[in-house]
Amino acid sequence: MTWREYHEATKHSVESLRRAGHVLDWANMPDPFRHYEGVPVLDLPADPPDPEMPALDVLQGTSGTTPVGDGPTFLSQLLFYSAAISASKRVPSTGYEYALRVNPSSGNLHPTEFHFLTRGLKGWPDGLYHYDPSRHMAEQRGRGDFEMKLASGSAPVVFVLTSIVWREAWKYGERAYRYCLHDIGHAWQALALSARAIGCDSFAVGYFPDDEVIQLCRPHIDEWPMLIVNLHGKSLPVCEADTGKTVWFGGEANQLSKETIAHPLIDSIHFATKQSSSGSSGTSTAESAPTGSGEVKLPSPASSTRGFGEVVRMRRSALDFLGGKQSMSLAQLSAILASTARPLSADFAGTRFIQLSLYAHRVDGLQPGVYRLWPERAELEQIKSGDQRVTAAGLSLGQNLAGNACVTFSMIGDLERAAHTYGDRGYRYVHFEAGAIGHHLYLAAEALGLGATGIGAFYDDEVHRHLNLVPNQGQVVYHFAIGYPVPEPRASASNEPLEITW
Ligand SMILES: Cc1cc2nc3c(=O)[nH]c(=O)nc-3n(C[C@H](O)[C@H](O)[C@H](O)COP(=O)(O)O)c2cc1C
Repeated sequence: MTWREYHEATKHSVESLRRAGHVLDWANMPDPFRHYEGVPVLDLPADPPDPEMPALDVLQGTSGTTPVGDGPTFLSQLLFYSAAISASKRVPSTGYEYALRVNPSSGNLHPTEFHFLTRGLKGWPDGLYHYDPSRHMAEQRGRGDFEMKLASGSAPVVFVLTSIVWREAWKYGERAYRYCLHDIGHAWQALALSARAIGCDSFAVGYFPDDEVIQLCRPHIDEWPMLIVNLHGKSLPVCEADTGKTVWFGGEANQLSKETIAHPLIDSIHFATKQSSSGSSGTSTAESAPTGSGEVKLPSPASSTRGFGEVVRMRRSALDFLGGKQSMSLAQLSAILASTARPLSADFAGTRFIQLSLYAHRVDGLQPGVYRLWPERAELEQIKSGDQRVTAAGLSLGQNLAGNACVTFSMIGDLERAAHTYGDRGYRYVHFEAGAIGHHLYLAAEALGLGATGIGAFYDDEVHRHLNLVPNQGQVVYHFAIGYPVPEPRASASNEPLEITW
């Protein structure tokens, strides 16, 4: 199977949804928390310092600093502001409580697991760890010098993000691979921005020999490595690396549900996008993104002083937005768009594969209509005029939030150009980039007092028809909505890691 066949086969249409008739098997819902049992568990100190640098500055590339001088507190701070539990919700009818995290995830199913290798962190044993967000602790799967040359040689901290695709497939079936890739994009940026806010640089590697990484990290068979993220920089509290013997603890992975249902299309696309050590990274041949211009010049971006720590821990997906008349300003929109424009730091990010189309519903000074963003000139090109609220909701599988928002986005991914450069592996990269952009949209909206929601469900070809896109102009890979959220009485912010039983 090629990426094209998978993508075609997992498109939503009225007909495909009618045929699917998928019923959720609640008794078999996968546990959103992985544990490796029987290994040493290392505490990550509670209440790590809050990175107070304004969130918009971090999104614009400014680095913060950390007062932290030791490895455990550094890791605690990094993860508390990127992957930890940050709120809980209670279902009023049943009293059932569930956890929400700093990083968003389709259906709150959280397919992404964070593994990390450390070497020479002060007060923290060198080794290989798995982060357990349910306890905000690190499970030590091995101690000593694990080969760090996975990525760029000498980074003292290297994250390996894996996907447990079954968690998403339980709800979304064969389309779930797309959501797992988006989720990795969100998790990557959650980590990279948290690192930046505390003074570290990061570099992500999407091109690696999958099987060698599996041999090194030995995750449970249901976890697939997707992205490696190296951290380096002056804020890392480093010391001499451990020269002792490597000891492997491994641990017993918990079973996530009674039964795992096979999804052959997902197995096939994953196989197609896997890299053997003999493949080519393709970076030297990357074709650049098209450029253009538009008649609407974006004004200077609105500002916000809300701190990064507060913004990332308060971020929530809006369940719906207040319709009505209240609009957002063009300066707010400008700030939100500016937050997506900086280059990403990754081996596949030399050129952009995503272009943003906007459905402007209620933005001061912008006629309702559809616009294309030309980020290098900070200009919008109008491609349709008129009220788009019903259309945007309809295209997003009838979800009202896409019409009640102030602005809704279609992210158009140049899948052909990515495949031309990177082969089938490029399919992953386009979705990582979409998730990464989505993460910036979430945080910029929150910093400006607005709310946001990622939308993975849309009628693919209907979007192409509405935007008059032919296949070589790209395909829709992600929707997004930003506006004034309806209040959500069921959510409560939580600074305490929760022990959740599912
Ligand atoms: C890739 C992706 C796709 C999503 N798709 C939808 C969607 O179609 N409709 C929706 O209401 N929410 C969607 N969401 C929002 C999630 O439901 C939300 O992130 C999750 O419930 C966790 O809540 P939180 O973001 O407040 O932490 C999506 C989120 C992501 C990351």
